[in-house]
Parts: sequence; structure tokens; C-alpha cells
Amino acid sequence: YTSDLDSDAIEKGEFPSYLAKEISEQPSVIRKIVQKYQNDKGELSLSPDITDSILDSDRIYIVAAGTSYNAGLVGKNLIETIARIPVEVHVSSEFAYHTPLIPKKPFFLFLSQSGETADTRQALALVNEWEYPSLSLTNVPGSAMTREASFNLSLHAGPEISVPSTKSYTAHIAVLAILSEVIGLKNGSLKEAFLIEELETVADAMQRILDHTEAIEQLSTEVLSYSSHAFYLGRGLDYFVALEAAMKLKGISYIPTEGFPAGEMKHGTIALIEEGTPVIGLVTEEPVARRTRNNLQETKTRGAHVLTIAMEGLDQPDDNVVIPKVNPLLSPLVSVIPTQLLAYYCGLHRGNDVDKPRNLAKSVTV
Ligand code: G6P
Repeated sequence: YTSDLDSDAIEKGEFPSYLAKEISEQPSVIRKIVQKYQNDKGELSLSPDITDSILDSDRIYIVAAGTSYNAGLVGKNLIETIARIPVEVHVSSEFAYHTPLIPKKPFFLFLSQSGETADTRQALALVNEWEYPSLSLTNVPGSAMTREASFNLSLHAGPEISVPSTKSYTAHIAVLAILSEVIGLKNGSLKEAFLIEELETVADAMQRILDHTEAIEQLSTEVLSYSSHAFYLGRGLDYFVALEAAMKLKGISYIPTEGFPAGEMKHGTIALIEEGTPVIGLVTEEPVARRTRNNLQETKTRGAHVLTIAMEGLDQPDDNVVIPKVNPLLSPLVSVIPTQLLAYYCGLHRGNDVDKPRNLAKSVTV
């Protein structure tokens, strides 16, 4: 294999932390992925071994842990929408002990930045025992899962040093989008390629957010960093991003944070809203935008300090962060950026080691 690792890639350079560096690298990671997965005709493509094996399957299983699991949730939506193959997403530490009922022709996707997570490897070992085909998506060339799965795709994100995963989340989603397009075109679910352009737009949108972080920094230091708990709310894809955003905020700032489906708050969790509790709403999906806003309003009338991250076109005058418009299927790639920055600034402001939050490990191999 060719290693992506070079000395530039593992130096912090001008950045105060690896986390800051890795967050800022995401536009170039997306561009690099697009470039790496293009054939000489300039089309996105995967090796025929991989596509044949997926086309032969009746259901895809995504198995992963942590941030990779959260990326898998977004991947499910991409594969089901673009390639029309049913997908289940499973937490790897559950999979071995509570194995789902598996149909005749499953195909397994193992997502792992490190390629070494013990629980995910254990699930892969079982799948190998059952002799089902598998594909690992990893960021570390030569890691265990690249060898243990039937096939491997690289995330091409470059070394991720900071313990909180950021660029590997967006890289996972981009590679899963590419897989969806390639399979969709082959099985006829998708009429025309669209992704190269849309991912370019995503990279530009990410860059625009990264170029103007002052408002986000201010929200972190003035609103979030003094709070005792916080919520992220959204529906659909925004809910999946809410889960990742909450994991990042609690992991880096140590503020207890929950990501919640916006419509589910009223069944208990809304009791936790007090005067000033930060509730961060994600609004990037047109069909549910109004409903999410209604749910945010419900928390506001109970005293919540509502902060809204909305996509251009769905934004309202009081929104705190407006993200550039992108293809709605790909909105998580962009909406996650302000949430990573909120966590980063919040952790800094509270004096935490943002690259090595307490009790966390970069890869959990035991
Ligand atoms: C650890 C890391 C997380 C990561 C998870 C899964 O808990 O701190 O950032 O998401 O492991 O790691 P993997 O390498 O399998 O993606």
C-alpha cells in the first residue's frame, strides 16, 4: 500500500492544536477523496470486485463505534436514498452479543478511523466466520481491519492525531456517498452522476464556515461554556448530526449534552429545560424545518436559550449560524462543522486539553 503519511501531515504547524488543524483540513480532505476515487475518465468509481459483491446483496449492514457509528447513520440515508438498498446500522459492541436476524445475502460495511477498534474487529471476525463479504472503510493504511475484511476503501483523510474525531467523520460520509452513487448508477436507482459537483460545493461551503468563526467562538464562550447541560435537536439527518455534535461537545468541554430527535423531547426530556439551558437546533431539511422550529419554540417557552444552525434558504432573521446551501443529502458534511467548532472553542475556554480529553483514547483496542 502507499501510505498517506508524510511529515507535514503530522506536524501541527501554525495551529494551536491537532483538533484545530484537523477541523480546518476538512475541505481539502473532501477534495482529495473526490480526486482519489476518480478513474481516468474523471468518473467516480470503485473496483468491480466491490461493486459486484454489493450488487449481489439484499441488505447492507454498517457496523461501527463512536463517531464512525454516527457517520454510519448518515451513510444509511445516503445508500438507501441513492442506491435503494436497505441498510441497518449497528453499534459494534452490541453486534456480537445481540446479533440481528440476517437475510440470505448480506453485505457488511465496517467503519473505523483507526481500523483497530477491538469491538468492531470482533464483529468483523464473526462475519468472517460466517463467510459473508465485508468492506472496511479505514483511515490508517495497513491497519488490522484493512487486512481482515474482504475489501478495503481508504478515507484518505491523512493522519488524525487529536482524540476527538472530526475529519474522519466527514471523510466516512464522503466515501459512503461515493459508494452510493457508484452502486446507484450500476443498479439503475440513479439516472445520472451528480456527486463530484455537489462535493465541490460542500468543500466550498465548509471553507466559508471555517473562514468566519468569530460568531461561533462567541456563542461558545458566552453561552455554552458556562452551562451545566445542553441539548442538540434535529429531525432526520439533523438528528444524526445532533448525535455526533452532542458526543463532541460533551467529550471536549465535559458539559453533559444530549442529541435528541426534536419531536421526542416532549416525552420526558423537556423536564430538564431550565431558565437559560442551551438548546441548539439544526435546521437543514426543508420537509421538517417547520416542525423542528416548533419543537425549539416549545423549549424556548420553558426557558431554553435556543441557538439555531440553519441552512441558507431555510434560515430566519434570528438564526445564530447560517450555513451555505448544499445538496440536502449532504448537509451533515457542512452542518457538523459549526458543531465541531462550538465544541472546540468551549473546550479551550474551559481550559481543557482539546487534543486529549480526560478518560478518552484515540483507539480502543482492548
Ligand atoms: C474512540 C475514539 C472515537 C472513535 C471511536 C471509534 O472512542 O475516541 O473518536 O470514534 O473510538 O474509533 P474508530 O477508530 O473505530 O473509528
